[in-house]
Amino acid sequence: MPIPNSQALPALVVVMSDDFVLPRTGSLEDPIRVAVMISGGGSGLAALLQYQRTSRTHQTTLVIADKEDADGLQHSIDAGVPSLGIPIPMEAEAKERRVTHERLVHAALGEHDIELVVLSGYMRILTPWFVRRWKGRLVNIHPSLLPDFPGAHAHRDVLTAGVDVSGCTVHMVDEGVDTGPILAQVQVDVNEGDDETSLQERIKQVEHVLYPETLDRLCSGQISL
Ligand code: GAR
Repeated sequence: MPIPNSQALPALVVVMSDDFVLPRTGSLEDPIRVAVMISGGGSGLAALLQYQRTSRTHQTTLVIADKEDADGLQHSIDAGVPSLGIPIPMEAEAKERRVTHERLVHAALGEHDIELVVLSGYMRILTPWFVRRWKGRLVNIHPSLLPDFPGAHAHRDVLTAGVDVSGCTVHMVDEGVDTGPILAQVQVDVNEGDDETSLQERIKQVEHVLYPETLDRLCSGQISL
């Protein structure tokens, strides 16, 4: 499907170290088992589940939200995919909460035999403890042309900077914030009169095509690592 309102950037030659190699290639008969992690409405999750209704090299077999009542969980519940809300354990000591939370997430991923973790609107920064365990099997989508405008407020920062072009980036996750090898990027024009909502919605339309297709390229070994 063509990506609406956007212009594909030239194909990237992705050169990655052994740190970022998926352990196996997925096939239509034996797709890579994916866990999607979300925090909010999950429109990206819904698009991925829709894409996977046709036989693909990746299949979502678990969805985890960082809240029990995250709206996006309804998409995976409706699709019959195991869906967990794993909130931050407030009973843990404050400085232990993040890692305690990630240990719970890590355990769930293991129980479900997950091979690839797909962050889709997951709004927490993962600790090096978690990233080290999933490096090479941990992918994120960010709503800007990284390395420009990392962080939680990409659209606001783009509009404040007054640039003409934004976009979205799919990348492997490393220990930094919105860093790690870039797998795919598409640019989206910033229109006159755009506000955060209109820009976000236009970029999401692009994300909903780019992310599932990039996962296919990754899982089928088309991105040479
Ligand atoms: C998406 O635009 C995604 O790129 C962004 O959150 C949105 C989630 O939307 N992610 C980040 O900003 C991560 N730093 P959704 O919940 O409707 O899929």
